[in-house]
Amino acid sequence: MKNIILTGFMGTGKSSAGRLLARELNLKFTDIDDLIEREVGLNIPLIFEKFGEPYFRLLEKNVIKDVALKESQIIATGGGAIIDDENLKTLKASGIVICLTASADAIFSRIGGAARERPLLNLPDRREAVERLMGYRKPFYAKADVCIDTTDKKIEEVVLEIKKEIKRRGGFSQRG
Ligand code: S3P
Repeated sequence: MKNIILTGFMGTGKSSAGRLLARELNLKFTDIDDLIEREVGLNIPLIFEKFGEPYFRLLEKNVIKDVALKESQIIATGGGAIIDDENLKTLKASGIVICLTASADAIFSRIGGAARERPLLNLPDRREAVERLMGYRKPFYAKADVCIDTTDKKIEEVVLEIKKEIKRRGGFSQRG
């Protein structure tokens, strides 16, 4: 496998686990949302506000295509990335796609206070928004190569499970 890609719903710990995993494996950490923000010079909520979600998705697709060309990275995507089939294909072709999951309760308690940073959840009834979006996206996340439940787990435990999964699949190799 060339890259390890972490995806899954908002608040599943993709970026935190990705950063720690990259440090432990001595690989580069690439965060798709960070690259989008850097390219536009605005944070995600402002990109949504000024240009709308379709424009954000276009940027996301382009950044994913770009990043997927490189190797030896731990990549964290935004929570909506693999809802797009082309993104999923691009990412699967560039490595193993690992989906982090969590219960709606865990998600809600992790991101409840920081919903403003997540335009799709910045709604009067956030709990309802989390459940609705999670329900809709479930079949898309199931298309990942493997899913790891992060509910009630520390980041270190999640990273350990990811490493076990990688090992089970023959380890990390830069030759694919
Ligand atoms: C989104 C998740 C966000 C960010 C954007 C859209 C989504 O990333 O890409 O707000 O559609 O689920 P995180 O999953 O890192 O919060």
